[in-house]
Amino acid sequence: MKHKIMAMAVALGMVLGSVFGMGGGVVAAEVKALRDTPVNTADKAPDSYRVQDGVKHERAYRQQPPLVPHDTSKYEIDLKVNQCLRCHEWPYSDQEKAPKISDLHYIDRNGVRQDTVNGNRYVCTQCHVPQVDAKPLVENVFKPAVTGR
Ligand code: HEC
Ligand code: HEC
Repeated sequence: MKHKIMAMAVALGMVLGSVFGMGGGVVAAEVKALRDTPVNTADKAPDSYRVQDGVKHERAYRQQPPLVPHDTSKYEIDLKVNQCLRCHEWPYSDQEKAPKISDLHYIDRNGVRQDTVNGNRYVCTQCHVPQVDAKPLVENVFKPAVTGR
């Protein structure tokens, strides 16, 4: 009896071995990667978006804040630092040959002109959109009032 159980266990072991061992090799060769490249090769680097530097972008409507024609990823804006000002605020704008922030950015909410960029214009990227390679989630059918008529 004991011998019989042993023999069955060995036989079972062999069957399982052939299924999961040798057979496993065949199955592994058919494994399909979920990514585009085969399992045993390195990932393909994604296409990277190149910021168009120094290109003026068209405005979609007259009042639109101009789009940022350069990379902004390294420019910090927080409570203490605003690196956009280091180039765009006069007199740095002259030194850096950057367009000067227009005077409207210095007017506070009571219409009084201040000597520094007003708080309501401090977070530049809130209005001046940096470039990203993002496909629109929904189709944009916007038409400016003037040309839409
Ligand atoms: C190192 C200097 C520098 C810094 C810092 C900088 N800019 Fe500029 N920016 C320029 C220059 C120079 C131009 C002129 C166009 C060009 O050469 O790319 C420009 C152009 C622009 C324009 C286009 C203006 C127009 O009339 O079309 C906008 C908007 C702008 N920058 C916004 C920003 C914002 C927002 C930040 C901060 C996130 C920033 N810039 C930081 C140098 C700078
Ligand atoms: C509330 C929205 C808003 C914010 C915030 C804002 N801007 Fe503007 N900006 C505008 C609009 C609108 C214009 C175009 C009309 C004008 O020139 O004032 C403009 C124009 C500009 C121009 C072009 C001026 C010219 O004569 O061509 C520059 C440069 C600029 N902004 C820089 C900045 C910087 C730097 C900051 C952050 C300190 C900033 N802006 C914050 C709305 C904004």
